[in-house]
This record gives sequence, structure tokens and C-alpha cells, in this order.
Amino acid sequence: MKTLVVYASKYGSTREIAEFIAEKLRHQGMEAEAASVGAAPRARDYDAVVVGSGVYMGHWLREATEFVRQNRAVLADRPVWLFSSGPLHLPAGTESLDDPELQPEEIGELREAVRPRDTRVFFGALDPAQLGFGHRMIRKLPAGRDLLPEGDFRDWDDIAAWADGIARALAVPAA
Ligand SMILES: Cc1cc2nc3c(=O)[nH]c(=O)nc-3n(C[C@H](O)[C@H](O)[C@H](O)COP(=O)(O)O)c2cc1C
Repeated sequence: MKTLVVYASKYGSTREIAEFIAEKLRHQGMEAEAASVGAAPRARDYDAVVVGSGVYMGHWLREATEFVRQNRAVLADRPVWLFSSGPLHLPAGTESLDDPELQPEEIGELREAVRPRDTRVFFGALDPAQLGFGHRMIRKLPAGRDLLPEGDFRDWDDIAAWADGIARALAVPAA
């Protein structure tokens, strides 16, 4: 069972989550590798695929969405998991990361297209020193800093538990 963990990441925090998931799967005795969508990995060379993206202004990064759209037929034929690395805190009106409000815009379409086993949202990370000009300006808007606080909010236990669930699902042959 060979698993691809493919990601789109602007500043690296989603990449590190993808690498961590691949590492976890390897610890469970599976063959797994993390690759950027930019490296154009071939989904058909893998038995299972995990796709993740950082979230910006409520959307997955375009290249992650395009990866799923372009590989739709291959992915629909394999076990697939989707994750988003997004909120830096729970916005007012939401009680947990399971709140549908926190799912990026395209998740409904992508779920429909590839029927993932699960779709998860993880807390992300923001280092202001890394931000490009446009993103720095957005943080300067009123409320920008409140909505986009500095810090690393990734919950590695939560991510590890999710990866272990993937390993368990892949270890059990489909009926
Ligand atoms: C300008 C900007 C806009 C963002 N917009 C959202 C958003 O709409 N929803 C969300 O959940 N997270 C948002 N985030 C937080 C990022 O998704 C988070 O920092 C994530 O970990 C980034 O992943 P990356 O480092 O892999 O690019 C935003 C971050 C920045 C800098």
C-alpha cells in the first residue's frame, strides 16, 4: 500500500503537516511520501492519496483544487482523505474545527468529485516575518491582526490521531 500525501502550502506550515502525516504512516509500516502539488506527483502511481492545502480568504490554494479536479477520475477510484490547514483560532460563532463554516469554499465540490473518506480542518500557523507584501497588507487592515494572529497553533496530537486513523483504514482490506 503506497500512499501519497500531496500538499499546497504558501509558507510551509501545510507542508510540515503533510510531511508529518507521511512520517506517521511510515511509522505504521506503510510506504508513504509527501510531495508538493508543484512537483506534479502522479496520483495513479499510488494506492491511496491524502490532499492538503493552506486556506486563504476562505479558499484552498488554487493549485490544490486544480490537482483534485485534474486527477478526479484517479482519486475517485482510490481511498482519499482531504485536509485543510486554516484557522489560527476558532472564529466567533464556531465551537470546534468540525464546524462546516470552517470548511473552505471548494470542499463541497471536491467531496462530490472524489468522495473522500474524511475531510478535516486543522489549526494552522502564521509567522508575520514570512508574509508576502499582499498578505502583510491584509494583516494591517482593521481586525486583520485579530483575525490572523501570529503563532503556531498546529495541534500535532490531533494530526497524529488523524494519521493513525488513515493507517488503520488502509491496513484493513476493503470488503
Ligand atoms: C492573508 C491570510 C489570509 C488567511 N485567510 C484564512 C482564511 O480565510 N481561513 C482560514 O482558516 N485561515 C486563513 N489564513 C490562515 C492560513 O490558512 C494559515 O496560516 C495556514 O497555516 C497557512 O498555511 P501555509 O503556511 O501552508 O500556507 C490566512 C492567512 C493569511 C496570511
